[in-house]
Amino acid sequence: MPQPLHPESLTVCAGRPSPTPDAPLATPIVLTAPYHHGTADNHYARHDVTETVRSWELAVGALEGGPALAFGSGMAAVAAVAEGRRTGAVAVVPAAAYSGTVRMFQDLEERGRMQVRRVDIADTDAVCAALTGADLLWLETVTNPLMAVPDLPVLISAARAEGVAVCVDATFSTPLVVRPLDLGADMVIHSATKYLSGHSDVLMGVLATRSPELLTELHDRRSLSGAVPGALECYLALRGLRTLALRMERAQSNALTLALRLAGHPRVARVRFPGLPDDPGHDLARRLHRGFGAMIAFELSGTADDAEAVCRSVRLITHATSLGGVESLIERRARHAVDAACGTPPTLLRLSVGIEHVEDLWADLEQALEVSG
Ligand SMILES: Cc1ncc(COP(=O)(O)O)c(C=O)c1O
Repeated sequence: MPQPLHPESLTVCAGRPSPTPDAPLATPIVLTAPYHHGTADNHYARHDVTETVRSWELAVGALEGGPALAFGSGMAAVAAVAEGRRTGAVAVVPAAAYSGTVRMFQDLEERGRMQVRRVDIADTDAVCAALTGADLLWLETVTNPLMAVPDLPVLISAARAEGVAVCVDATFSTPLVVRPLDLGADMVIHSATKYLSGHSDVLMGVLATRSPELLTELHDRRSLSGAVPGALECYLALRGLRTLALRMERAQSNALTLALRLAGHPRVARVRFPGLPDDPGHDLARRLHRGFGAMIAFELSGTADDAEAVCRSVRLITHATSLGGVESLIERRARHAVDAACGTPPTLLRLSVGIEHVEDLWADLEQALEVSG
């Protein structure tokens, strides 16, 4: 019996067309909506997806350890899970998380579709106490943008004991760092716009589950809402996925160096990064994650305007939202009203560390901190 492949190898080989003589090595971009009628009841790309989309799903499924469904964006995957709950369902969600997810649950609550209990997901006892009578627990492997690390195994087993379905957004971590399905989560989702595709040129989402019932239900939801991605997006995402391990290795090593240096900078009041030994999430991340990720949040001493001035002063790093691409991006998260309302400190800068040379990144941060000070 050959030994199972390491995830690094799966990123390279999973989802490729079968090795048939004279067949292409790379997945072709199949552009079609209908298929000729044959044995299938209704062969149409919104239900059955094209070969390009399927290849992407097979690759991510192999990495996550459960069948995957591709979505047109990370939010489309979030919506498939959240909006698919029965009317009146109770969701336990992070009080501070990705702003789109926060808005999604607020919207469902405001329209009377769902009851929402908001918790600090780093407070394990508080989350467990909120689970009684709930239907869904939503977690992020590392929260966006406050960088809190939840105790996934404890929370997932507490939820399972209460019959609560668990969905984990692992966008910040990738399957190379954490595989929530192995820890018992029912569903894992990603904004594939970020690390999985890795080049900031596609908008995509993906979801994986080991439950055949959830797979069917979520597949049906995707067909109904038409939330499938296009073939070109899947081709680009697959191409990006092939280098995920190398990109993550460099980005994570850059992030650790930058976090350590930022922590010693006189203009920086606090660095939030699980790789720092004194970070509240450090012990959990060391125990549960294979790596500390490449997202850093740091708070400047001074005002929101001072923090905006840093964003305007970077030259190599780009002042833009989003994350997980080869290029480093920075932004003041409280510029977004939802983040500010979730308690994001006004001077918190979220830095998505890319794969540039670490000394160039540090020189850029240093000069931006200097000229804006
Ligand atoms: C953690 C997290 N989840 C979900 C999303 C939504 O993804 P998308 O922008 O692909 O819809 C984002 C986007 O920033 C995110 O950071």
